[in-house]
Amino acid sequence: MSRSARFALAIVLPLAACAPESTPFSEVADVKQLMVSVIEPAAEVYWDAVGSIIDLEGVHEFAPQTPEEWEAVRNAAFVIAESGNLLMMGSRVRDQEAWVAMSRAMIDAGERAIAAADAQIPEAVFDMGAEIYYTCSGCHTAYAPETLRPNAFPEG
Ligand code: HEC
Repeated sequence: MSRSARFALAIVLPLAACAPESTPFSEVADVKQLMVSVIEPAAEVYWDAVGSIIDLEGVHEFAPQTPEEWEAVRNAAFVIAESGNLLMMGSRVRDQEAWVAMSRAMIDAGERAIAAADAQIPEAVFDMGAEIYYTCSGCHTAYAPETLRPNAFPEG
């Protein structure tokens, strides 16, 4: 690339980044549909990936075994992380303070959840599952307390 072309790009890119309003996205899911159809299924994949079952013979640990199983966990973490962005778009945004902070918290937890799955460390995936759960219940406490009653989340 010529020096002048590089210079022109350096000017154009920041300008483009300043004009998000013109992006023609459309909201397909409202907040509830996003929760039920996108976020919750991904969270279930992540939460169910690592754990232990106790029976009469003792404690049995389980974790992803194959590259494909690890990839599924990682993909779920990507869905969770990027869903934080979806919650900050258009009419889904409830306010610019706590809502945005809690959406950002879900992105941050999702990014660390991706790293845990990339590293293929079952304990890290387990811990990040808990952190993801805190970001869910933190926002629900503030904006959807009715979802926190017992049995509101079907066991999956
Ligand atoms: C930024 C805020 C926010 C975050 C973060 C958030 N939620 Fe929600 N969630 C809501 C709101 C608001 C509702 C209620 C939507 C409605 O009823 O219109 C909701 C509703 C739900 C519901 C529907 C419950 C019901 O009984 O109708 C599920 C399931 C759900 N969320 C799962 C999750 C999971 C899993 C996470 C974390 C991975 C999460 N949510 C993170 C705001 C959030």
